[in-house]
Amino acid sequence: MNQGISTIEISALPNLYPGYVHFSLRSLVPASRCPCALRLEAYHSASQRLRLVMAQEAGARLDGAWLARLLQAGIHHAYIQQDDLDRLEEYLRVQAARLALASDSDTELQHCLVYEQALCAIKSAMLEPRNGRRLAQGVATVRQIIEQIWRDDGARQGLLKVMTSDGRLAKHCLNVCLLGVGLARGLGWPSQRAENLGVALFFHDLGLAGQDSESRDCSPELPDDAHPALRQHPKLSRDFLGQVPDLAPEVLDTVLNHHENLDGSGYPRGLDGQGLSPASRLARVVDFYESSTAGRGCCPALTPFEALSLMRREMKAKLDQDLLEGLVRFLGHG
Ligand SMILES: [Fe+2]
Ligand SMILES: [Fe+2]
Repeated sequence: MNQGISTIEISALPNLYPGYVHFSLRSLVPASRCPCALRLEAYHSASQRLRLVMAQEAGARLDGAWLARLLQAGIHHAYIQQDDLDRLEEYLRVQAARLALASDSDTELQHCLVYEQALCAIKSAMLEPRNGRRLAQGVATVRQIIEQIWRDDGARQGLLKVMTSDGRLAKHCLNVCLLGVGLARGLGWPSQRAENLGVALFFHDLGLAGQDSESRDCSPELPDDAHPALRQHPKLSRDFLGQVPDLAPEVLDTVLNHHENLDGSGYPRGLDGQGLSPASRLARVVDFYESSTAGRGCCPALTPFEALSLMRREMKAKLDQDLLEGLVRFLGHG
C-alpha cells in the first residue's frame, strides 16, 4: 500500500514578520495574476538585517521564468499581509479547480495548490481562534479536501508527496490531518468517520495558536516540568472548535483526547485505553509520528524509520500498536 511515499521534505525555515504570513512560491501559477502583493526577504546592508522588500504588486501577472529562477536560487517562500490570507486562499482554490479541469495539467502543481490552500485555512483559524465564522470556513475547506483525498488515490498520494515540514504549527496540523485520513482510508474506515477524524486533526492544536508555547511544543512528549497551560491546550482547542455549530460530538472528543495514552499517562485527563475511542487513539499515533519527524523547535527531526522504531519500543504501552502497524504499512515501511 502506497509504497515509497516520501512524506517529509525539509526546507529552510522562513522568518516570522509581525503582520505577515509566508507561503510557498511553488504554489503560484505562471501567467496567473496573484491577488495580493508579494514580498521577499532581502539582506539590508545598512542595518545588517533581513527585511521584506516588495517583489510584485497585487494583480500583476506572474512570470514563470522569474518564479523558476527564484526556486532554483533556493528562495522557496514569499510573504503576504495577514489581511490578504482570504484572497490568497480564494486564488489557490480557483487555480486548483482550473488545473483539475485542464487535460494537460501539472498534477504536482495542483497538489501544491490544494496543500497551500489548506494551510491558508488553518493559518486564518490560528490568527483568530475565537472567531467562530472563520473556524466554520476552515471546517468547510478541510471537508472539501478530505472528500477529495478520500475518493482520489492520486490526490491522496500526491498530497503526501508535496507535504513539507518546517516545525510550524499550521503545517503540523495539516500534515497530521492528511496522514490521519490517509491511514483511516487504508484501514477501511467508513468515510463519515474519517471525515470527522480529519476535521478534528486539522484543528487539534488550535489551542496552541499564538501562545509562546508554539515554539516550545517541540516534542511529541511534554516534559514533566512543562507549563501547566500547555497541558490544557487540548481543552482549549476543543473549546475554540466548539463554537462551530453542528459538529459531531466525536470531533470534539478526538480533539480533547489527542494527547491521552493507553496506559493513563497522557493529558489533560489521564484517561486510559477504555476511555479512548479509535479516533482518539489514531490521533495520538499520527500526532506523535508527525511531531517526531518534523523536528520542532529544539528537538532534532527523527527519520521516519527512527520515529516508528521509537513508537514500537519506548511507546509500546502508550500507543495503540495495531494502529501503529497500520501506519507503518500506510507509509510503505512494512
Ligand atoms: Fe497537541
Ligand atoms: Fe499536535
